[in-house]
Amino acid sequence: MDKLNDSVVSEFVLLGLSGSSEMRVFLTLIFCLLYLGTILGNLCILFLVIFDSHLHSPMYFLLANLSLIDVGFSSTTIPKMISDLLSEYKVISFRGCMAQICFIHIIGGVEMVLLIAMAFDRYMAICKPLHYLKIMSPKICVSFVITAWVTGVIHAMSQFIFIAHLPFCGPNKIDSFYCDFPRIIKLACTDGYKYEFIVAANSGFMTMGTFFLLILSYVFILVTVWKHSSGDLSKAFVTLSAHITVVVLYFTPCMFLYVWHFSTSSLDKYLFIVDFAITPVLNPAIYTLRNKDMKIAMKRLSKRGYYTQFC
Ligand SMILES: *[C@@H]1O[C@H](CO)[C@@H](O)[C@H](O)[C@H]1NC(C)=O
Repeated sequence: MDKLNDSVVSEFVLLGLSGSSEMRVFLTLIFCLLYLGTILGNLCILFLVIFDSHLHSPMYFLLANLSLIDVGFSSTTIPKMISDLLSEYKVISFRGCMAQICFIHIIGGVEMVLLIAMAFDRYMAICKPLHYLKIMSPKICVSFVITAWVTGVIHAMSQFIFIAHLPFCGPNKIDSFYCDFPRIIKLACTDGYKYEFIVAANSGFMTMGTFFLLILSYVFILVTVWKHSSGDLSKAFVTLSAHITVVVLYFTPCMFLYVWHFSTSSLDKYLFIVDFAITPVLNPAIYTLRNKDMKIAMKRLSKRGYYTQFC
């Protein structure tokens, strides 16, 4: 931690999203609504899964974990972004910036492993129904969740230990609404090539690997459904295409940023709005609205009067 104090730069200036003041007020409103939607939608899922014993199954436990993570992921950047939209003085302290990077990568890492676990769960349920209950035991589910957290922490720390020691001496303007490795490395007064490589190898590998595993699992599921059913393919296809859309939306910005290019353009900051503000609000929608159990659980709760109170 002493090393942090040696840096001359004590805070970073976030250039954030630019625009006229009317535009910024409009964006503030939109992001407030999206953030509110993220919190309410995901807490609703969490609440349903915890309090409805019919939903005490591996799939829903993983879903509740994902909801919690979605709220966390959105919270790493969106509240700060909203407050910056309305203020002229958009700074983040050095430690705040480093903490933000850590949280984004820990939570992002957990989210990716959880998405893989959920894809595996669906794959087992649809392609290996006879072994499903034996394989997706509560013990396996807990170990998925533990693995997700361990992976997230290792993923974030294994990059952070290199970046925390970079010297910062001059420029401190970040052309984005949050801190992340690529932009921080660009600001360091040292040759960043080695560090860019570390981040590309780690975050890039993680995003690419997760993306292809997820797409592969969807292909397997589609092929299985196609082989075993005569007419019901369209319903499965609609559900799966919703999932695939969200996965593509979520992973495109990550791959754009970490795999292809350490871009100096500001396109990636607009792309990442999708990750932080839009997919966390889409997840509860796609996992619940087309799901019969969830709808029944909501009805059951609404009969008891809880639903109207909390959701
Ligand atoms: C997350 O998953 C674990 C393991 O299945 C479960 O025990 C736990 O209750 C879940 N957490 C939430 C918030 O639902």
